Amino acid sequence: MRALLTAVASLATLSCLALGQNNSADSRPKAPVTTQAAANKGNDRKWWKEAVVYQIYPRSFKDSNGDGIGDLKGIISKLDYLKSLGIDVIWLNPIYGSPNDDNGYDISDYQAIMKEFGTMQDFDELLKEMHARNLKLVMDLVVNHSSDEHKWFKESRISRSNPYRDYYHWWPAEKGKPAHRWSFFDVNADAWKYDKATDSYYLHYFSQKQPDLNWENPKVREEVFSMMRFWFDKGVDGFRMDVIPFISKDISFPELPAEYHGDYIKYYAHGPHTHEYLQAMNKDVMSKYDVMTVAEGIGVSSDESLDYVDADRHELNMLYHFEGVSLGYLPNSRKVPDPKGYSLVEFKKIYSKWDSVFAQKGWGTVYLGNHDQPRMTTRWGNDSPQWRELSSKMLTTFLLTMRATPYYYAGDELGMINIKFDRIEDYRDIESLNWYQLEKNSGGDLKKFLEAQKISARDNGRTPFQWDKTTNAGFTTGTPWLKVNSNYPTVNVAVEDKDPNSCLNYFRKIVKLRKDNQVLVYGKYTLLDADNPDVYAYTRELDGKKWLVLLNFHDKAASANTGLDLSHAKVLLGNYATPSRDGKLKPYEAVILEL
Ligand code: NOJ
Repeated sequence: MRALLTAVASLATLSCLALGQNNSADSRPKAPVTTQAAANKGNDRKWWKEAVVYQIYPRSFKDSNGDGIGDLKGIISKLDYLKSLGIDVIWLNPIYGSPNDDNGYDISDYQAIMKEFGTMQDFDELLKEMHARNLKLVMDLVVNHSSDEHKWFKESRISRSNPYRDYYHWWPAEKGKPAHRWSFFDVNADAWKYDKATDSYYLHYFSQKQPDLNWENPKVREEVFSMMRFWFDKGVDGFRMDVIPFISKDISFPELPAEYHGDYIKYYAHGPHTHEYLQAMNKDVMSKYDVMTVAEGIGVSSDESLDYVDADRHELNMLYHFEGVSLGYLPNSRKVPDPKGYSLVEFKKIYSKWDSVFAQKGWGTVYLGNHDQPRMTTRWGNDSPQWRELSSKMLTTFLLTMRATPYYYAGDELGMINIKFDRIEDYRDIESLNWYQLEKNSGGDLKKFLEAQKISARDNGRTPFQWDKTTNAGFTTGTPWLKVNSNYPTVNVAVEDKDPNSCLNYFRKIVKLRKDNQVLVYGKYTLLDADNPDVYAYTRELDGKKWLVLLNFHDKAASANTGLDLSHAKVLLGNYATPSRDGKLKPYEAVILEL
């Protein structure tokens, strides 16, 4: 049980300005193409290092046909809005053929569009219209597993001699029960499912409808590579790779080795051939295109991350870690928030450590929200009416001023917050539904479970995007697949677009600041005042330019002791009408100063 909960805990690990008077950012000519700092890093300029990535959960973004589910035509209708944000890249969660056991992460056809989302023609139009606006498109690559409704699996389960048998991991029942493997989404947390037709068990790290593909089979690798080429040939600009560290397995399926101390996620991420397969993928596919790749770095520690993203190894470009988003949950729990909250000192340590990993090689990412996480303002800021906007802008400031490519989640630019369902019936996510069942089966405290889910459940980050104050926030004319947050009459694009001090307009300003100033992209990061429990302070430096970022993470005034002379500091951006110039910060204040 303890091992199981450890694994669950790591899964957790699986999501305005008041313009300072001088918001002029920097109008001087931009730094030369290869800056000194970048050159020193042996880490040349790349478009994906300078990009701001914006993630869209297509199911919840915009519904064009009234079926309550977002779709591609909906996204197309909002491209001008997306362009107005100043972002460069859009990452779409899976849009492929799927029975939607896990909202598209269970793929039944890798080269088709999910019928709820539209057609291949809609996709081609989306890509064309995005490229016409100079926006790049990154797709989700989900190849650790497929759907059980994929034709490969349908064939595979027919007989032991079927040509597709070895596309998946099977264990013949006459050998007895295979060694335990933990599953994320199984009601019994068991990753082996018995299948009567061939008297065998198949492996599914996720739900029973997500059987794991057998990457040790060269045919599977070639199928995946050719599918990737299909999308790249269409002009797609990259892939975000779902649980990619899990693809290689020891197919003798031994007992969990003792050195993993029951941590299945860590074990899953240490398969024997992962890097060999990623190098082959790079050589056969990515190296032929100008595209970006980012791994969902589940189970990968900071000292292992360069194995994935050191350019000399020819694997992937970036990886996103789970250390930051795991902070503040009770150990060995199903994402139960620590009543004491999270420690900012720890938070700073984690993000500073991950910055240092990529100081010489590779390149980092930074995010606080995504479709697997609750809303960042609820989780890391303060979603009360008094502090929602300020804390949300403060967190946005953090994301856009780190030395790493920011992955920003749709709706966070509006300051959207958790919906906090009271009843299990309101949830749609397989994770919440199955964990509830698990909790129930083991006689757990269901009330406590639901309370914790109000903070940590994934559906909090998946509620429909809030466009305006009309019914269902303008997301759909039908019944939305997941309820809309009741704050939509005031938190929405239409209202915020008109308000110069809104979260939305703050986001636009800070994106522009980053895009116009390479110091925010490539500049050296230095943490200051590390032990300050309330303020996150750091400098960014490049080619003689030195910027200071001060962020008060709490609801009380706090001072930063940076030891720097701020007397000539110039305010570049801040989230209060009168930004602090002396390091004394108001609650949730964020300010960027040029020194
Ligand atoms: C990680 C994805 O981000 C998550 O949404 C999904 O449930 C699992 N992988 C399984 O594909």
